[in-house]
Amino acid sequence: MKLKTPYYLIDESKLLKNLKIIDYLRKNSNTKFVLALKCFSSWCVFGLIRKYMDGTTSSSLYEVKLGYEKFKKEVHAYSVAFSEDEIKEIPKYADKVIFNSISQLKRFHKYVRQLKIGIRINPGISYSQYDLADPARRYSRLGVINKSDILSALKFINGAMFHFNCENDNFENFSKSLDFIAYKYENILKRLKWVSLGGGIYFTKKDYPIENLCKKLKDFANAFNLQVYLEPGEAVITEAGILVTKVLDIVYNKIDIAILDVSTEAHMLDLLVYRTEAKIKNAKRKNFRYMIAGRSCLAGDIFGTFYFERKLKIGDIIKIPDALGYSIVKKNWFNGLIMPSIVVKKLDGSIKFIKSFSYEDYLNSLS
Ligand SMILES: Cc1ncc(COP(=O)(O)O)c(C=O)c1O
Repeated sequence: MKLKTPYYLIDESKLLKNLKIIDYLRKNSNTKFVLALKCFSSWCVFGLIRKYMDGTTSSSLYEVKLGYEKFKKEVHAYSVAFSEDEIKEIPKYADKVIFNSISQLKRFHKYVRQLKIGIRINPGISYSQYDLADPARRYSRLGVINKSDILSALKFINGAMFHFNCENDNFENFSKSLDFIAYKYENILKRLKWVSLGGGIYFTKKDYPIENLCKKLKDFANAFNLQVYLEPGEAVITEAGILVTKVLDIVYNKIDIAILDVSTEAHMLDLLVYRTEAKIKNAKRKNFRYMIAGRSCLAGDIFGTFYFERKLKIGDIIKIPDALGYSIVKKNWFNGLIMPSIVVKKLDGSIKFIKSFSYEDYLNSLS
């Protein structure tokens, strides 16, 4: 099948590699795993993911609905702030609701009495390279900080969520943080039935000490007689897909610049947000150096500068690795650029075209 660029290619075999790690952790630590839809919500591959995960977690009513309709397992509802209309809808779709503040809990628990209710606790510690994603940053609004507030909420809740990591590949750090949480919240944890430790643990990274994580999670669960959850996003889809693009033009301004048929701003926004480079591998022989750039109007729409084996030419295909997390969910119509299609490489190696986006989709996103 001749596929037209640009497209995100989701590779089920690579996804399965990560899912098998999750399955191992699930079976050996009794932890339950819910997919963080904020990171990845391509429901065309939920059929595979749901075999290895227990459900979904969310940041909004729409993600709650998506989890209910397309994943069809446990549905956790969390939002930094629900509106009254939204919270009234939550019981139709969710098993659990996690409130971000005491004020939301007090105002809205009456609408969700039939669900398991939890509160997000901000332990005041975190692991994050980026201030933007640091839940313990100064003036953070993410979760309840005051311990006496949490104690006063115990009559309404039977669980809690701590999300305090972002791409944390350091087990020792995670382990110490969990010890801190166990110590600081001992009298609270003893009175709960379930605790989610959030996302951001990079356990699918090569050489991550899975056995140690297993033991740590199991010991924590046993110490407090809790059902422990993790809410991974990034770890589920790490290295499981690429963005396939084409060189549309090559210009020169003190360096060769190849312009692709995609854009960082519209199709891999986090590169701009976190000021990182795409994970294109430099060629061993450092022959030809190009700045790889997007085609939006932004002067800084740049994927990075890389070495290639040979001279690039117009029409060449450039594959941007590890392109699934927080990209497909954030893609947008900036500059009216063509939206990358969605393609899946199935477990048997066959290629399945899932969806393309048209001018009508662009038009309908506006008014
Ligand atoms: C509450 C919560 N849970 C889970 C996640 C998923 O994190 P990650 O994709 O880093 O695993 C996030 C990410 O911001 C989050 O805020």
